[in-house]
Amino acid sequence: MFPFSEILIAWYDQHKRDLPWRHTKDPYLIWISEIILQQTRVAQGLAYYNRFVHSFPSPSALAAATEDEVLKLWQGLGYYSRARNLHAAAKSMNGVFPSTYEGVLALQGVGPYTAAAICSFAYNMPYAVVDGNVYRVLSRIFGVETCIDSTRGKKEFLALAQKLMDPRRPGLFNQAMMELGAIQCVPSSPDCSLCPMQPHCVAFKKGWVNRLPQKAAKTQKTERFFNYIYVKQSSGVWMRKRPAGDLWQGLYELPLIETSKVVCSSSILSKRKAYKSLIPSRAKLHFLSGPLKHELSHRTIYACLYRIELEEDFSGPVPEGFCWVEDSKISQYPVSQLLHRLLRKTHLL
Ligand code: ADE
Repeated sequence: MFPFSEILIAWYDQHKRDLPWRHTKDPYLIWISEIILQQTRVAQGLAYYNRFVHSFPSPSALAAATEDEVLKLWQGLGYYSRARNLHAAAKSMNGVFPSTYEGVLALQGVGPYTAAAICSFAYNMPYAVVDGNVYRVLSRIFGVETCIDSTRGKKEFLALAQKLMDPRRPGLFNQAMMELGAIQCVPSSPDCSLCPMQPHCVAFKKGWVNRLPQKAAKTQKTERFFNYIYVKQSSGVWMRKRPAGDLWQGLYELPLIETSKVVCSSSILSKRKAYKSLIPSRAKLHFLSGPLKHELSHRTIYACLYRIELEEDFSGPVPEGFCWVEDSKISQYPVSQLLHRLLRKTHLL
C-alpha cells in the first residue's frame, strides 16, 4: 500500500484554499459551515456563511432569532429545512454545543456525515467523512465500481475512508480528502497530470476517470405548474407563510393556484376555490409574466404571475394564514428564489 495520507496531506498543505471555517475550532461555526456546504458550492456558500455567523455568532444568538429572520438570511440557498433544523437544534442546546459524537449526531438535521465532519474538525475525533467529493476521490484512486448511492456502496466507501485515515490527524485528513475532490479530482475532465495520486490511481491507469464514480440511474424530475396571483390592495399585497407538507415550508408566498399544465387565466379563475374571498369571480386577472422555468433538484417548476386589484374597502373573510403586507416591507419577508425571480422580473420587488 502506498503512503496515502502522507501524499494527501502534503498536497493539501500546498494547495488548500483559505476558508474562514478552517481557521476555527469552534464547533458551532464549523456546524454552520457544514450545513451550508451540504448542498452548496463553496463559492456560493462563503457569503452566506459570513452573513449568517455575523448575525448569529453563537448558539444562543441563533436560538433567540425568529424563524423569519433565519429564513431571510438563508433566502436563495435552497433546501430550507436545513435552516429550520439549524434553528431548532440551536434552541435545543441551551447555549452549549454538544461535545460528544453521539450528542452532535442527535442534533436535528445532523446525520453521520455532518457529525463526522464537526467532530473531526472541532474535536479531532477519528471519524472519516464521506461526501460527494470523497466518493469521487476514492472510487477513482482505488477503481471502486460499486454504486455510491447504494447501501453496499456507502458502507464500502466509509470503511475504506476509515481505513485510510491518519488517526493522528483526522481533521486534517478529512479536510484534505474533500479538498482533493473539490479542486483537483473534479467531476469532469480533471487535469490528472497535476494530481499527486496519479501514479497510484487505478482510474487513471485504466482510463476510467470519466466513468467513475458509478451511480444508479437518476430519478426523473417531476414538473409542476404554479400560477401566482399578486393581489394588490391599496399600498400592499396579500401573502402567507407556507405550511408544512410541501416545498418551501416557512417561506412566504402570494396566493398560489397549482394546475396540471400551463393554462389560461379563465381556467385559473375557475380553480380559485381556496381564495374565493380574496379573488372575486368577476376579478380581472392581468397576466404579468411567465411561464418562468425554475429548476430544483427533483422538480422543474413553470411559474406564471398574474395581478388583480382589490377595492380599497374590500373586507371579505381572509383565507387562513394570509396577512396584508405593505409594499415597502415585502423585501423583509423570506420568499423562494422562484418568487423572488418573478417579482424582480416584473419590478414588484
Ligand atoms: N464541503 C463540505 N465541507 C467543506 C469544508 N469544510 N471545506 C470545503 N468544502 C467543504
